[in-house]
Amino acid sequence: MEHTIAGPLGAGSGSGVLITGAAGQLGHALADRYPDARALTRADWDVTNPAPAGLSADLVLHTAAWTDVDGAEEDPQSAAAVNVGGVQHAAELGAPLVVWSTDYVFDGAKGEPYVESDAASPLGAYGRTKLHGEAAAGEQAWIVRTSWLFGATSKNFVRTMLRLGAERDEVAVVDDQRGSPTYVGHLAAATEQVVRLPHGLYHVAAAGDCTWADFAQAIFEEAGLNVRVRRITSAEFGARAPRPAYSVLRSERGAPELPHWRAGLRDCLDALP
Ligand SMILES: NC(=O)c1ccc[n+]([C@@H]2O[C@H](COP(=O)([O-])OP(=O)(O)OC[C@H]3O[C@@H](n4cnc5c(N)ncnc54)[C@H](OP(=O)(O)O)[C@@H]3O)[C@@H](O)[C@H]2O)c1
Repeated sequence: MEHTIAGPLGAGSGSGVLITGAAGQLGHALADRYPDARALTRADWDVTNPAPAGLSADLVLHTAAWTDVDGAEEDPQSAAAVNVGGVQHAAELGAPLVVWSTDYVFDGAKGEPYVESDAASPLGAYGRTKLHGEAAAGEQAWIVRTSWLFGATSKNFVRTMLRLGAERDEVAVVDDQRGSPTYVGHLAAATEQVVRLPHGLYHVAAAGDCTWADFAQAIFEEAGLNVRVRRITSAEFGARAPRPAYSVLRSERGAPELPHWRAGLRDCLDALP
């Protein structure tokens, strides 16, 4: 998928918007939102390398990332090459830059919504690489921490639940992690507001919060699937990487507010092919 180059900030503004990670779920949503952007997949630019010669932009929307949370525990160096090195290479383009970071920079101990000034303390390798990536973004950047992304494309919890729900009548889902599932279409739309704010760190996630089990229940309800959700603990599920028990993000800096996660879920289901 490659879109033509055109001015993002008005006609004649130069080389336009550049999207990295365009095959990912947020990359897809941004390419829909910025149809004139140049949308690059890993095949076009592996961001562990410096940008291809001659690449320039007026605004870089850098979504390329290592998002395999458990895999990062196995291979933290490769995760860092993408999540830190990749951000550094995107910043080297010298254009205003949006990078996305994660609720997994927090340990979950606060037990109430995390705001931008809260101290980060990642539990796992993925969160550590993303936190270092924030620092690599430079001065000309908006760092958008978000959480529990889902969309109509790529690999995500909603698509996994719909697949499992079509095969089984019961699914076991973790019920001791609480966060805000965020629809990439809503996050992409909010990006247009973020780039009008001063550079800096912002928390942008869906309104409302739930556990993964609540989310699964809502997916089955909205999709009309008769599937029982068996609520289990993180220990029972046994994922390799530890995850925060509570990672709801809210903004104290005037970041855009997103619709409720359940509205995002409905929009996502409507957008499914
Ligand atoms: N997913 C979540 O729940 C979540 C939550 C909070 C924050 N975030 C952050 O939000 C951003 C977008 O996440 P997402 O869910 O859209 O991720 P995603 O669907 O996993 O997409 C990430 C994209 O990055 C690409 N990529 C990986 N390594 C690359 C490399 N070396 N060079 C170029 N491209 C590479 C992947 O390409 P391939 O398709 O070839 O692998 C994939 O298309 C990321 O910064 C992520 O850390 C995500």
